[in-house]
Amino acid sequence: MVDKVKRIWLEGEFIDWDDAKVHILTHTMHYGVGAFEGIRAYKRVDGSTTIFRLAEHIGRLYDSCKLVMIEPRFTPAQISQACVELLRENKMDEAYLRPLIYVGDGAMGIYAPDNPIRSTVVAWKWGAYLGASAVDLGIRVKISSWARHHIHVSLAKAKMMGQYTNSVLAKREAKLGGYDEALMMDTNGYVSEGSGENFFIVKKGKLITPPLSASILEGVTRDTILTLAREEGIPVAEEMLTRDQVYLADEAFFTGTAAEVTPIREIDNRKIGEGGVGPVTKRLQTRFFDVVKGGDSSHPEWLTRV
Ligand SMILES: Cc1ncc(COP(=O)(O)O)c(C=O)c1O
Repeated sequence: MVDKVKRIWLEGEFIDWDDAKVHILTHTMHYGVGAFEGIRAYKRVDGSTTIFRLAEHIGRLYDSCKLVMIEPRFTPAQISQACVELLRENKMDEAYLRPLIYVGDGAMGIYAPDNPIRSTVVAWKWGAYLGASAVDLGIRVKISSWARHHIHVSLAKAKMMGQYTNSVLAKREAKLGGYDEALMMDTNGYVSEGSGENFFIVKKGKLITPPLSASILEGVTRDTILTLAREEGIPVAEEMLTRDQVYLADEAFFTGTAAEVTPIREIDNRKIGEGGVGPVTKRLQTRFFDVVKGGDSSHPEWLTRV
C-alpha cells in the first residue's frame, strides 16, 4: 500500500490527497494514451534533499508526449517546479515522484482530439522496489514468454501508460512462477529489458547493454551507469545480446529509478557468475549510491536541491 501524504499537485494547484479523483470517462483509463515519469528524491548524507536528474526525466516526459501526440498545458519548467514544491508542501525529504500527463474526459472513442490534456504530480515514499534484500543480495530472474513491443507495434521510447500492460503480463508471469522479475526479449529473440528496468551484463570485464535502437526505454539510470562506468575506466558497449550470452555472463544487473542498481544472481535457474553480486556490479552500485545520496559531488548538474 502507498502511504498517503498530504497533498497532490493537479492542474496547477495543490489539493488534498483524498480529493485527487478522476471521472470514470477519463480517456486514458479507456485507451491508455498518456505519459508519465518516475523520479527519485534522496536525502543526502549532508542532510540536504536533492531530486536526481529531474531535467532528464522531465525532458523524457515531454518526448513521450510528443511521441503519443498530446500537448500538456504546462511547460517543462512548470512541471519541474511542481515536483520541487510538492516535496516542500508535503515536508518530504525522500520520495518517489510521479508526474503524469493524461487525456481527460470529454468525447469517447479512440480519436477524441479535443479532450483536455491534464497534468498531475504525486509523491510517495518508496523503498527498494524489488524487495528489501534485492539491492544487497541480488534477484532471481525469468526470461519472459512475453516479447517486448515490436518497433512497428508501439513506441518503446515513450513512457506511455498503455504500454505497461505488456510489463504487467511479464511481471505477473515471473512472480507467479516464483521469480523476482522478468527479462523480456524482443520479437527477434534479442534481449530487450525488464518489466520496468534496463538490463546490463558484464563479460570479461566489459559492461554490455542493449543499444538505444533496441526496443527499450532510454533509461536515465542506464545513462547514469554508462557515464559512471566510463569514468571508472570500465570498457562499455551497447550491443544486441542473445539468450546464451546472458546465461554465460559473469555478472548481470537491472537499472531503473525504482530498481536503482539491482544485481541479478540467477536467470532461468542458472547461476550468473558466482551467483552473488559481482565485483563490477558492486563497484558501479556503490558509485551510484554515492552520487545520488552520498558524499560524491562529482555530478552537481544531476542534482536539483529541494
Ligand atoms: C520499461 C522500462 N525500462 C527501463 C526503465 C528504467 O528507466 P529509468 O532509469 O529512467 O527509470 C523503466 C523505468 O522507468 C521502465 O519502465
